[in-house]
Amino acid sequence: MRAGAGAHRVSTAHLQAAYPFVSEGGLGGEGVYIGREVLGGAFCYDPWVLYRRGVLTNPNMLVAGQVGRGKSSFVKTYLWRQQVFGRRAWIIDPKGEYGPLAAACGIDPIRIGPGLPVRLNPLAPTAETVDRAAVDRAAVDRRRISLLTSLAASSLGRTLQPEEQTAVELAVTTAAGTHGDELVLPQVVDALLWPDDDTAAQVASDADAFAQAGRQVALELRRLCQGDLAGMFDGPTTAGIDLDAPVVVLDLSALYGSDALGLLMLCATAWLQASLQAHDHEDRLILVIDEAWAILRHLEIARWLQASWKLSRQYGVANIAVVHRLSDLTAAGAHGSEQVALAQGLLADSETRVVYGQSPAETDRATDLLGLTDVEADILSELGRGVGLWRVGARSFLVEHVLGHTTERVIVDTDARMG
Ligand SMILES: Nc1ncnc2c1ncn2[C@@H]1O[C@H](COP(=O)(O)OP(=O)(O)O)[C@@H](O)[C@H]1O
Ligand SMILES: [Mg+2]
Repeated sequence: MRAGAGAHRVSTAHLQAAYPFVSEGGLGGEGVYIGREVLGGAFCYDPWVLYRRGVLTNPNMLVAGQVGRGKSSFVKTYLWRQQVFGRRAWIIDPKGEYGPLAAACGIDPIRIGPGLPVRLNPLAPTAETVDRAAVDRAAVDRRRISLLTSLAASSLGRTLQPEEQTAVELAVTTAAGTHGDELVLPQVVDALLWPDDDTAAQVASDADAFAQAGRQVALELRRLCQGDLAGMFDGPTTAGIDLDAPVVVLDLSALYGSDALGLLMLCATAWLQASLQAHDHEDRLILVIDEAWAILRHLEIARWLQASWKLSRQYGVANIAVVHRLSDLTAAGAHGSEQVALAQGLLADSETRVVYGQSPAETDRATDLLGLTDVEADILSELGRGVGLWRVGARSFLVEHVLGHTTERVIVDTDARMG
């Protein structure tokens, strides 16, 4: 029993000092089966049920743990088990490992990469937007502006200057005025590179000076339209993508390991977020970002993500972000910095935190950010594969994730994944 081995590394005496684990009555039997509590019975979980019962005030989850601890395996089987309840999932899959889950649900992952046929347009509401008249145009433009600002800033490695910010705003509103729902990235880049006099006059500038102000941003964004990153997010969304499938997997593995991964994950997530408007909200939806550290290490993207989590709440979406270490959230920031504040905000917005094994060097940060007891902190570096410390609101559970029958073994087996 490989999975259980780690649990026994924590001595019982040690655990009994961990008052919450022993005294907890559990979360009840509602929700999907996750596994067993190391010192208790079956552990079940469903964010919407707990939300309804007032145990949680938000349905989002953060999963942290060292490589190979079973984070992705947990998420995959969790999504699989949620299928029974009609919950659906949209997944950002940077390593291309959700193929077996998709196959078990009878669908193909959508592969995005240079030279591959699928394009997603992160600037457009999806074609089948339910009620066009009801779409708030200004809100659509604000979403576009915040996406492009985050893309440019993270790609430049700095916050945009006020005049750059203004250039993006005016380029989007001008280009959107012409192209509407069909707006695509190259049109915004053109509007930045060649602003017209009327646009520039809105901020007491002329076309040449204003073009200069927006030039660096334009050149960064142009990277997604020309050259190495072209062909993925720079045109209308490819027809025939079925967002009503039980799972939608966006496989970005073609660029896993590239420095552009964070940008591509941002574009893909933005496309999914935009698609929420067009989607039928009867079914509960889980939106997963695996390997989310690639997004969170960029301050600008982390900020965008936090805002988008807040927005997705109105659609009843439960977000899941998977990271290695909690310090992934604060990597770029000194104590008291905006990065740290953002990390704390994201944590506050994910009231369910599942922490798998952490290196001893990480436990201080984790203890700090999660408000763990000393005993919980000690346990973090001793957890074996498949065993996680669950913080659900203010309550703690030590849970061994139990894998089911053959299908689940196939779904989590990272070696047997399809190419
Ligand atoms: N609860 C578990 N029981 C048994 N094996 C597991 C369990 N969780 C994960 N594994 C195995 O461990 C390997 C690594 O797990 P994975 O979920 O990819 O780790 P991570 O996402 O944390 O890097 C997988 O190939 C899987 O087969
Ligand atoms: Mg993983």
